[in-house]
Amino acid sequence: MSFITWKDSFSVGVPSIDDQHRKLVEMINNLYDEFYKGITDEFLGNLIKELEKYTVYHFSYEEKFMKLYSYNGFKEHKGEHDQFIEQIQGFKTTVSKDNKTAVIDFATFLKNWLLKHIMGTDKKYSKLFSEKELY
Ligand SMILES: [Fe+2]
Ligand SMILES: [Fe+2]
Repeated sequence: MSFITWKDSFSVGVPSIDDQHRKLVEMINNLYDEFYKGITDEFLGNLIKELEKYTVYHFSYEEKFMKLYSYNGFKEHKGEHDQFIEQIQGFKTTVSKDNKTAVIDFATFLKNWLLKHIMGTDKKYSKLFSEKELY
């Protein structure tokens, strides 16, 4: 059983963005699976690096279209993105193969943050992005 199971209800109605969200879910699930197989510091280091790189890409993608379509909630939404990137920095110093609690805290943080952000914040642009026929 996966840590996060993708549900149709997670969709924001924009296929390119849903694909990016699925990729993030996959990365978090990999972290969880690897934890139970016996995680290494190398894996953790790479995962954090990849996650950072991919979230920066994904966040800029959303922000680009929010700006282009003069989305009202831009500032607040970008604030959540920026805060997430900052929070990831904090985990860099705690997460290690010898600190299992920190790894679980990290995975739980990622899962909760992503689902709350998709369902509560990303979904608010659904109507506008769909109207603009963003695919
Ligand atoms: Fe977002
Ligand atoms: Fe998103």
